[in-house]
Amino acid sequence: GKVAVLYGGNSAEREVSLKSGEAVLKGLHSAGIDAHGFDPRHQPLESLKKLGFEQVFIALHGRGGEDGSVQGLLEIMGLPHTGSGVLGSALAMDKVRTKQVWQSLGLPTAGYRVVNRDDFDSQTLPEILEALGGCVMVKPAQEGSSIGMAKVSSVDELATAVKTAFEYDAEVLLEQYIVGQEYTVAILEDRALPMIRMETPNTFYDYEAKYQSNTTQYHCPCGLEDEVESRLQAVSLKAFDAVAASGWGRVDLMINDAGDVFLLEVNTVPGMTEKSLVPMAAKAAGISFAELTLRILQTAG
Ligand code: DAL
Ligand code: MG
Repeated sequence: GKVAVLYGGNSAEREVSLKSGEAVLKGLHSAGIDAHGFDPRHQPLESLKKLGFEQVFIALHGRGGEDGSVQGLLEIMGLPHTGSGVLGSALAMDKVRTKQVWQSLGLPTAGYRVVNRDDFDSQTLPEILEALGGCVMVKPAQEGSSIGMAKVSSVDELATAVKTAFEYDAEVLLEQYIVGQEYTVAILEDRALPMIRMETPNTFYDYEAKYQSNTTQYHCPCGLEDEVESRLQAVSLKAFDAVAASGWGRVDLMINDAGDVFLLEVNTVPGMTEKSLVPMAAKAAGISFAELTLRILQTAG
C-alpha cells in the first residue's frame, strides 16, 4: 500500500527532519515502496486517509512529531506508524521523566536538577552548580539535536544558559557534566546495532558537530572490548524498554574515565540524514540504507 513519510513539521528540528525525510524517501523508493513525502506544516494529518495512505513512516523530530501527539492521532485514525507508541514517544521526549524512570530502575544516569520558568529563582544557581560538581550541561527538557543546550562552569554562564534554554522549554534540565567519551547505541527491531563513539573538537557534540562540521569523528567499531560493548548494548536495550520505546531508536550515553556508564537519553525518531548515526551503525552491521528504511517501515504495527 501507499506509504506517507511524515517530515518537516514545526519543531526547532524542522531542517533536520526535512533531510531525514528526503533520505528515507529515497531509501524506500530503492526498496520498491510507493512512498510519498507529507509535511504536516502544509497539509493536515487528518487528510492522510482520504489521500489513500495505508502506512506512515514518521521522520518528524522533536515536539509535535516525536513526542506522542502525532502517534496518538494516527492510532485514533487507525493508521499504522513506525516506531514507538504514545507512551514511549512522550516519555523519551522528556529528558527529566526519562531520568526519573531510569533512576527508579537503578539504571545509571548523571546527577541533575530541574528548574522551571514559572518559579525560577536565580539565587539557587550557585548551590546547584556546586552540587553538580562545578560543570553542568544545560538542556531544555524536551528538545533534540542539542538545540538550546550549553556547557557551563560558572554561575554567570549558567544563568545565561538557563535563560536561553527557557526560550525552548518551560522546564530545563541541569545535568552534571561527565568527563569522558560519548557513545550511541542504535536500536533496530528491538535489537542493538554496533556502537559508535563520537569525537568532536567542539565544547560538546552540538548542532554544528552533528550536522555541519567536517571535524567530527565517528568510530565504529567503537574501540571497546567486545564484552564491554555487549554489556552496554544490553543496558541500552533496558533503558529503551524502561521508557516504553519500541521498534527502532537510539540510546545516547557517556562513559567517564573510570569506566562508569551514564545514560543520557532515548531518541525515538533518530536522525536519518547523511551524517546521522543510525544509518552509520546499520552500515557497520551490513544493512544498507534502503534495507534499513524497509525494516523500520516494518515496525509499523
Ligand atoms: N534528535 C536528532 C534528530 C537525533 O537524535 O538524531
Ligand atoms: Mg535527542
